[in-house]
Amino acid sequence: MSAALKPIQDYSLLTDDECDVRIQAAKKTLGERCVILGHHYQRNEVFKHADVSGDSLKLSKYAAESKADYIVFCGVHFMAEVADILSRPEQVTILPDLAAGCSMADMANLKNVERSWQELNSVLNADEQITPVTYINSAADLKAFCGRHDGIVCTSSNAEKVLNWCFDKREKILFFPDEHLGRNTGYRMGIPQEEMVVWDFSQPLGGLTEEQIKSAKMILWKGFCSVHQMFQTKQIDDFKKKHPDTIVIAHPEANFEVCEKADYVGSTEMILKTVREAKPNTRWLVATELNLVNRLKEEVKDQKKEVHFMSPTVAMCSTMFRTDPQHLAWALENLVEGHVVNQIQVASDDKLMAKKSLDSMLSLF
Ligand code: 13P
Ligand code: SF4
Repeated sequence: MSAALKPIQDYSLLTDDECDVRIQAAKKTLGERCVILGHHYQRNEVFKHADVSGDSLKLSKYAAESKADYIVFCGVHFMAEVADILSRPEQVTILPDLAAGCSMADMANLKNVERSWQELNSVLNADEQITPVTYINSAADLKAFCGRHDGIVCTSSNAEKVLNWCFDKREKILFFPDEHLGRNTGYRMGIPQEEMVVWDFSQPLGGLTEEQIKSAKMILWKGFCSVHQMFQTKQIDDFKKKHPDTIVIAHPEANFEVCEKADYVGSTEMILKTVREAKPNTRWLVATELNLVNRLKEEVKDQKKEVHFMSPTVAMCSTMFRTDPQHLAWALENLVEGHVVNQIQVASDDKLMAKKSLDSMLSLF
């Protein structure tokens, strides 16, 4: 008979070192039945236990191919939902702390998106003229909305390919929830700023005139990442005054002006790859989350590369930070005893349509 479910309270007083030992032991017992996926923004104490690390695209592809019975996702809620949608029905996805959400994903919800779609329909024929695109940082029901309306999902590493796919089908895109990823990608593809309008869902017709909607190519949801909005062009200018040879690299969730000043713009995986492959004696100013930047800084310092965080103040993703070694140890030790805690299960009607929009994205590679 298996032992009783272990309550999280029993873990809250454990030190990180004690958790380390217990996590390693549980991983050994579970063997190939369990895989731990870790997003690049995870804190070190958790990240070091990941079997696979990556950006959203890499981790979703891995989830789709994994053979493990249990996928323990050290990331945020929408990522675990994607793993549940793409994995086989008998596989179980676990998010060690259910409070690990994404504030940007929360800026669009189904009710507001459906209302916006109806409003757009009052100006043009939305289903014939607009492709809805949701950034992967969104709830499963929004991915399902895109599936129902012949739309698609994108990540920070494939947004341009996805937008090209959309423009081959229809003339306009409704992009949610991140205004900046939409604008930065559209601009790099040559779409003029005046053809990218911001949809403020709190206002009638998104705060736009019928004319603005009719002449727009991209309708960008007014959403943003609270972490990446901390990065400002002044930080680049100030740093470059002291070190003119600096190379600037930014995540596309950063604002347009920062991305315009950056030498490179890309996903977390792309940022890591670019700096890792750079020549020695280079200096980098990086606009993305602090845990990634600090780890990268340590990793490349022996190659005589200097890595600096762009913001003078801490810009850490507080929801990514929710997953701590205590929750990871709790989830794994319960699995050892045959108890699944914090399973992420997307409702079956959303699952089918969300999978359709995710599969459309994955088919582009
Ligand atoms: P990546 O897919 O580039 O890892 O981005 C995920 C994310 O949430 C960035 O804030
Ligand atoms: Fe969401 Fe921003 Fe955190 Fe990424 S960094 S998970 S977009 S809140």
